[in-house]
Parts: sequence; structure tokens; C-alpha cells
Amino acid sequence: MSKPIILTGIKPTGSLHLGNLVGAVKPAVTLSQNRENQSFYFLADYHALITVKNGQQLNRYTMEMAASWIALGLDPEQVILYRQSDVPEIFELAWILGCFTPKGLLNRAHAYKAQRQYNERRGEKTLDAGVNVGLFTYPLLMAADILIMQTRWVPVGRDQGQHIEITRHIAQAFNHAYNDEIFVLPEALTQDNGVVIPGLDGRKMSKSYGNTIPVFATHDELRALIFRIETDSTKPGEPKNPDSSVLFQIFRAVATKEETDSFRRQFVKGIGWQDAKEQLFDLLDRYLTDPRQRYQEIIHDPRTLDRILAQGATKARDQAQMVMKVVGRLTKNQ
Ligand code: ADP
Ligand code: TRP
Repeated sequence: MSKPIILTGIKPTGSLHLGNLVGAVKPAVTLSQNRENQSFYFLADYHALITVKNGQQLNRYTMEMAASWIALGLDPEQVILYRQSDVPEIFELAWILGCFTPKGLLNRAHAYKAQRQYNERRGEKTLDAGVNVGLFTYPLLMAADILIMQTRWVPVGRDQGQHIEITRHIAQAFNHAYNDEIFVLPEALTQDNGVVIPGLDGRKMSKSYGNTIPVFATHDELRALIFRIETDSTKPGEPKNPDSSVLFQIFRAVATKEETDSFRRQFVKGIGWQDAKEQLFDLLDRYLTDPRQRYQEIIHDPRTLDRILAQGATKARDQAQMVMKVVGRLTKNQ
């Protein structure tokens, strides 16, 4: 029996930040170390094209994101790591799946709906203003990413759950049309205690808000960014609530239990904000020392990175072509 497939996509739209590290990379790397499964992790560069319209930039983000994941522990010998656009079968399948997808299903997808609601609030005459067809069909391409690899489990953030539901819906519609179980029905793997790391301004850390702390900032940049995290006006010596502190939330996501307990006690005793920032910086700086060095090695060796992605693409295409053969037989008897 072949191993159950775990697959996830990473959109290269900017630099990897601490929120991504804690919410996505750490859990996905751990999951990929379980030899009972086969993992497929890919750079969703054509999903990123919806917003990144500069070829050089898209390529740079893609390479940086691949290097970041490898530097943080993803083993390309164990995981099939590839660039979405290197597997053209995905886009072929996306078209075919579109012919089995009720338009209303995509009307309800959250990113599209959010843009329409935003337009409505701003009093735009056309509610589809700022929506390209790529954004509208985003979930369809994601369904193709997932179904073409016969994926069983999809580790994703909570916001992506709806996309997995849409994928199941489309898979069932196709299976039903041909009375065949060709597509495996995937399930989302979401962390129960999924923490949301706040950004420099206290909102969710996100590339879209420009409030991030990039994982691969240099030592000096990292220190400067940590000292920019907003704190309240409580003075050194006054007790502080760790659970409402951004500094503490970030600290806890990376530290051991003992380190976290000790940091918590210092908050209750009234640690000064400067001191707390210094400790958070020390912790992160230590945690990132090795990954930073590996990241520099990988990013300065684009040939090796290209080779890794090319190897991944070959394996991913083997799997994709196998599925497309069956799809071709069913849809056009060829
Ligand atoms: P961004 O909001 O920066 O564009 P993405 O939407 O590309 O991030 O998210 C990529 C992954 O990182 C997802 O699995 C998401 O759940 C996780 N993630 C993003 N921001 C955070 C955060 N602030 N805290 C925890 N996890 C996050
Ligand atoms: N939509 C995902 C995100 O924004 C990225 C993604 C694209 C993905 N294709 C996928 C995730 C397939 C899981 C499976 O984070």
C-alpha cells in the first residue's frame, strides 16, 4: 500500500515572518518527519501571481521561500518540494475541474466575498472592482493542487478550511459524474491550539499589514524590529499581564516550557519592557543562529536550489501524470 499523502502549498508573496514560522513552518516540518506519510510541499507561485505582477520579484520570493523552509528543517530528500508552475498538469486539471464546479460555490469563497463586501462598504458602483478572475478561481486551482496528488491530509491555517471543503465538493462532483472514486477526498489538518502571532502593531502579523518580523532578518534588523513592538505605559517594577503582551506571545511560541515559566514569573514581578525585549531578542537570536547560516548558504547557491526544485518537479509530475491519465480516460475516453 502506498503511504498517505500530506500536501501543503506556500504562497511566495513576501518574506517568511515569525507568524508563518510558528503557525505553519514548525508544525509542517514536524509532520513531514513522520515516515509513515509521503509529503508534497510546494511553492504556489501562480497563486502568488494574483498579486505579484513582477517576474523578478516573484522568482525572488519563490527562491527565498524555498530556502527558508529548507533552512528551518525541511529535508528535500524526504519531502517532494516543487514549484507549482513546474507542474503544468495542475493547470490542465484546474480547467477540467472548473467544468464540474458550480459558479455559486466560488461566489461564496471567503477572499472573493471579502473583496465584494469591502467594495460595498466603500460605495463602489461595481462590487467586483479589483477582482481578477485569478482571485475568483483561486479555490479551483487549489483544488487541482490537492486532488492531482491524491492528497489525504492538508496542513493549513484555519482560514483555509473553506478551501478544503470546496475541494471535497468538487472531487465528489467529479467522482459522481463518472461513477468512479478517482479522487481521494482530502481533509484539513488544523492545529487545535493554533496560536495567532501578533505583529508589531498588535494586529495579526501578516505580509498584507506590513507589520511583520521577518525570520531571516539580520541580527541587527531583528533587534531593531523587536524594540519596535508596541507596549503599554506600565513602568519597570509594576506587575504586567503576560497573557495580553505581544512580547510574551512571541516568546512562548519559540521557548521551552521552563523558559516560558520563568519569563511569566518575571512579568508578574514587574520586568521592564526594555528588559523583556532584550530577553525576547536573545531567545530568537539563539533560536535562529543555525537556520540563518543555512539560509545564507542555500540562497547563495541557486544552482543547488534549482536542482532540488527540478528533482521535486520530476517526482511531482510523475504522480500528476498518473492521475491525468485516468482523468483523460474518463473525460474523453482517450
Ligand atoms: P500572511 O497573512 O502573512 O500573508 P499567509 O496567509 O500566507 O500569511 O499564511 C501562510 C501560513 O502562515 C498559513 O498557514 C497561516 O495560517 C500562517 N500564519 C500567517 N500569519 C500568522 C500569524 N500571525 N500567526 C500564526 N500563523 C500565521
Ligand atoms: N491558499 C494557501 C494559503 O494561502 C496556499 C495554497 C495554495 C495551498 N494551494 C494549496 C495550501 C494547496 C494547501 C494546499 O496559505
